[in-house]
Amino acid sequence: MSRQLRLGAFMRPTTIHTGAWRYPGAYPDANFNFGHLKRFAQTLERGRFDAFFMADHLAVLNMPLDALKHSHTVTSFEPLTLLPALAAVTERLGLVATASTTFDAPYHVARRFASLDHISGGRAGWNLVTTSNPDAALNFGLDEHVEHDERYRRAREFFDVVTGLWDSWADDAFVRDTATGTYFDPQKLHVLNYKSDSFSVRGPLNIARPIQGWPVIVQAGSSEAGRQIAAETAEVVFTAQSNLADGKRFYADVKGRMEKLGRQRDHMKILPAAFVVVGDTLDEAQETRARLDTFVHYESGLASLSIALGHDVSGFDPNGPLPEIPETNASRTARQRVVEWAQRDGLTIRQLAQRIGGYSGLEMVGTAAMIADQMEQWLVEEGSDGFNVMFSHLPAGLDDFVDKVIPELQKRGLFRREYEGVTLRENLGLPRPENRFFPA
Ligand SMILES: Cc1cc2nc3c(=O)[nH]c(=O)nc-3n(C[C@H](O)[C@H](O)[C@H](O)COP(=O)(O)O)c2cc1C
Repeated sequence: MSRQLRLGAFMRPTTIHTGAWRYPGAYPDANFNFGHLKRFAQTLERGRFDAFFMADHLAVLNMPLDALKHSHTVTSFEPLTLLPALAAVTERLGLVATASTTFDAPYHVARRFASLDHISGGRAGWNLVTTSNPDAALNFGLDEHVEHDERYRRAREFFDVVTGLWDSWADDAFVRDTATGTYFDPQKLHVLNYKSDSFSVRGPLNIARPIQGWPVIVQAGSSEAGRQIAAETAEVVFTAQSNLADGKRFYADVKGRMEKLGRQRDHMKILPAAFVVVGDTLDEAQETRARLDTFVHYESGLASLSIALGHDVSGFDPNGPLPEIPETNASRTARQRVVEWAQRDGLTIRQLAQRIGGYSGLEMVGTAAMIADQMEQWLVEEGSDGFNVMFSHLPAGLDDFVDKVIPELQKRGLFRREYEGVTLRENLGLPRPENRFFPA
């Protein structure tokens, strides 16, 4: 069978677009309304999505309050509290959560994800992040964020401790022999006794080995250190390349690194985030995007636009075109993209600010066939193995994706019609890790 797309759904916040909560028919309270989240998860499962992904940031985003006050991205549920509840109302959908290697403790992380894996019947995934928001440090007894290299050094070790704890018990350790009264076989228990400058963890974990052996390991950093840890450990990689050329470079780099380490290329699925806006015609999809953007607060949009251009644009005429902007030290790629958008779509400063403020990464705006074309091209040209989909607005954008784009992908043989297996690993085609202390 030819390669198939893997689709995750980026659900924290429920939609990334900062104006989406104001769209007619949207649920402004969706972040804290379990009924809505349950419906979204069940819709994703109906669409045979691989996973529901719940990011986490450990602090309110570090933006000025004046801008932040307009955004639904400011708060949401704690992921490891939400996902077990969603496990109870779904059967096949993978459940992936972020947990921080900088601010959490390996024993806590190992227990929580092992629990989620058992509760969900083997559908858990751990997005191992070093935490990007510097304000998180202020919530965990530190005055400033831990330095980048140190964060990644700690993350690598953290991974070894967590996976070592998951291997505490052989898969068949719990004999539960009612006749002899033996609950487990002590020969099948390993005490980790991990000690280093960073961690002192005796073990064993007080939870049976996860159903998947280990929950699926996800990684989301793109720096040199982030790519390296992904190559060494990750089975799914979340990333944010905004065009196919960058996607292909990233894909070749990370898969190349993993091959050098002796890992098989298809044991890692690279999923860029893609913002999708579905319409029955291209015009309709573009109108939806333009309408969504009108709900982005102008002042917040202006701040985002100034950052993208590396130039303060607050003095420009909001209803005029973008004037010539001198090159600055800001990101050239971001600047170029903004200038191209402004010219291609003839946008005013206000429209441009609202578009950037709404969402400015990789976007797929069009009919189901057009979105399927783009996804297919990324897959075939090895820009990705699938996508982490961000819906334009909810519930309508999610419903449209599942009812229109998914059937189109299925028709082309690019996406499953039924789940292949029961666990997230089985559905993603990933091997079950052997227990390092109790090899088969
Ligand atoms: C799709 C996606 C999801 C992410 N989720 C989280 C998250 O939940 N929590 C977090 O702190 N960072 C998250 N990140 C950010 C990355 O973990 C990382 O901090 C950022 O990409 C910077 O990477 P670097 O430190 O390797 O340069 C996410 C990134 C992407 C692309």
